[in-house]
Amino acid sequence: YVIGVDLGTSAVKVLLVNRAGDIVHEVSRPYPLIHEKAGYSEQDPDEWVNQTIQALKELVQQIGGEVSQVEGMSFSGQMHGLVLVGSDNKPLRPAILWNDTRTSAQCKQIYETAGKDTVHRLTKNPALEGFTLPKLLWVREHEPELYEQAAVFMLPKDYLRLHLTGECHTDFSDAGGTLLLDVENKQWSEEMCRLFAIKPSLCPPLVEASAEVGRLKEAVCRETGLPSTLKVFAGGADNACGAIGAGILDETKTLVSIGTSGVVLSYEEAGNKDFAGKVHYFNHGAPDVYYTMGVTLAAGHSLSWFKETFASDESFESLLAEAEAVSPGANGLLFTPYLSGERTPHADAMIRASFIGASPTHQRGHFVRAVLEGITFSLKESLDLFRQQGKEIKTIVSIGGAVKSPLWLQLQADVFQAEIVKLKGDQGPGMGAAMLAAYGSGWFQSLAECADAFLTVDQVYQPNVDRGATYEGLFSIYQDVYSATAGLSK
Ligand code: XUL
Repeated sequence: YVIGVDLGTSAVKVLLVNRAGDIVHEVSRPYPLIHEKAGYSEQDPDEWVNQTIQALKELVQQIGGEVSQVEGMSFSGQMHGLVLVGSDNKPLRPAILWNDTRTSAQCKQIYETAGKDTVHRLTKNPALEGFTLPKLLWVREHEPELYEQAAVFMLPKDYLRLHLTGECHTDFSDAGGTLLLDVENKQWSEEMCRLFAIKPSLCPPLVEASAEVGRLKEAVCRETGLPSTLKVFAGGADNACGAIGAGILDETKTLVSIGTSGVVLSYEEAGNKDFAGKVHYFNHGAPDVYYTMGVTLAAGHSLSWFKETFASDESFESLLAEAEAVSPGANGLLFTPYLSGERTPHADAMIRASFIGASPTHQRGHFVRAVLEGITFSLKESLDLFRQQGKEIKTIVSIGGAVKSPLWLQLQADVFQAEIVKLKGDQGPGMGAAMLAAYGSGWFQSLAECADAFLTVDQVYQPNVDRGATYEGLFSIYQDVYSATAGLSK
């Protein structure tokens, strides 16, 4: 057996996975988000540790007598969060999370100091509020006495692992989201550190996601009941682990994940493409390869917002059935899903959503269909950025809540003009973490071999060319809506 630990934003999930790739047991423990002020989003790092230990303890109770057969453990973590740690390995303040938006001034300052092109060249990524460097600069400016005491900065899952093993590392896939990593060359960027006067000693040692980094502390073994022989592997960023868990491990595979937010993620062999900071470009959890990623902030959120606001008594199923009765294109009704701003391709926190083209003949089902189509158009904008760089995208693995709807899966195939693969079972970052432990433990020669053994295709949806042409026409109008409405909320 191996254990995958998925340190998410609202809860930690621990999975016990067997050699066939089945999830045998699963325990989840929640922890709160702290929103002290508008735009702030923090968490207590020690809550992550306490809840994970509790979850592991419960998992061990479920495993019973077979616990000595658990060979390895690895991690998937919410990305970008800043945990400032003192020389005693204790956090100096609450963690500032990926969805905290207090750092707009610091992002502006990063571009002003280094120049946009330099930041994109050195880090391959845009300066976004969610990333770690802007958070470090915020603490240095607003809490200088705390910043002075920092021995190292850590990312969420790395802080958790530090307390389980006593070892301090981060892996390349998570480090890529700090804006301090030279993503292409897999080392901390001396130039970024120099430009922003970040002491190199603040950056934790780098390892591969599948690297063995130690064993559990004796006290942790005692408390959880896990064996001292269990090997601990570094683990990766949740998006990298999500990619592993969905088998995105060669150039032909791209992932679309539609949950609260939406992600388009494509495997990349090369680390030297130039996307001019328009997409995220991170190290994969598999060694020496990369992935590119675009994010739609309000994907599933747009649909749940619509339901809560206009149809709170209905179920999602009945709303989706209303949408299914409407023809593609929603009879000219168009939605842009910018409820809480947008990341890709516009990186604009201020833009807001719109419905365009409503007529007296439109009914609720048209609006629901327009919402589904608008979310999917937004994800297509990210796909198109990858395609413009020469990426051939023919097969997309679709994960997240949206896979419950055959209508939405077919809509993805038609809008993306690619075949959509739905996998069997509930795959996700926790499975990716378990796969890192399985590969690290020597069960397989590569992560791809592990994916072949663990993952099964449930259904494939083929694109329809005629419906694709209808959507393409609407999509070009959709793309104009952003610039036409950019001034509305300013
Ligand atoms: C990625 C991002 C989120 C977090 C969620 O850039 O900010 O997907 O990783 O945990």
